[in-house]
Amino acid sequence: MMNNKIIVITGGTSGIGFACAAYLLNLNYRVIITGRTKENLDKAVADLGNNSVGILSDTSSLVEIDNLVAKVKNEFGKIDGLFVNAGIFKASTFEETSEQLFDETMNINFKGAFFTVQKFIPILKNPSSVVLNTSVVVFKSFSNTSVYTASKAALESIARVLNIELADKGIRVNVVSPGVTESPIQKKSGMSDEAIDNLLEHFSSTSPIGRIVQPTDIAPIVEFLLSDKSQVLRNEKIIVDGGTTL
Ligand SMILES: NC(=O)c1ccc[n+]([C@@H]2O[C@H](COP(=O)([O-])OP(=O)(O)OC[C@H]3O[C@@H](n4cnc5c(N)ncnc54)[C@H](OP(=O)(O)O)[C@@H]3O)[C@@H](O)[C@H]2O)c1
Repeated sequence: MMNNKIIVITGGTSGIGFACAAYLLNLNYRVIITGRTKENLDKAVADLGNNSVGILSDTSSLVEIDNLVAKVKNEFGKIDGLFVNAGIFKASTFEETSEQLFDETMNINFKGAFFTVQKFIPILKNPSSVVLNTSVVVFKSFSNTSVYTASKAALESIARVLNIELADKGIRVNVVSPGVTESPIQKKSGMSDEAIDNLLEHFSSTSPIGRIVQPTDIAPIVEFLLSDKSQVLRNEKIIVDGGTTL
């Protein structure tokens, strides 16, 4: 199938970003993934195959975002889509949330995402699509997620504004909102193996689909939002949670 679209995925080295990269490559998109850990990036690019490109870039650093945009521009010119996906989650009660965790989470999940979109504007085509990865935590409360929830709510809140401000550049912004999705994020969160097993079991047994959402479930939805099929959508939010928040 012919597909010349060029897509940048931040945080494409594992989980949802990686699954989306693999899905898009299979549909002949050209895909550039980023990550902040060289070892993970090299492995992901090797696993994705020859058509993928990896660029090391810590999304919490504006200098590194500038370098990322410059490298993409140099190699590809303008791009058709941007999946703003890089993110972290570390479980912490509200009372125990430190300034360091607050800053780390907001700097990656919100500030990084904010400036990634801003700095890519000059190389986003007219038309082009930006997809923001948020979470069901924005509308459904979970304990031990206060700063993560705030970071994702902040990100969702700007989609509306961007759709107005960037309209004349042909840039549309939509949101994918995953439910609990099995990925390396759980292990990195600081939760014990037992707590992770309980979480995944709970969301499998209570879900209308009878299983946990996988990164490969998110990929076709993101592809839809990046493709011309969603051309007239603006600030749409697609909840991909198997119905767990119903
Ligand atoms: N899994 C879920 O249940 C779930 C639910 C809702 C929303 N989400 C969101 O989905 C997104 C992806 O999560 P995931 O579950 O796929 O987790 P994951 O497997 O841990 O993947 C996170 C990706 O983001 C990258 N990343 C983290 N910090 C970065 C930084 N400072 N700069 C550049 N890249 C960075 C990681 O790269 P490195 O390996 O280099 O760190 C990795 O590629 C996140 O925004 C998350 O909040 C996940």
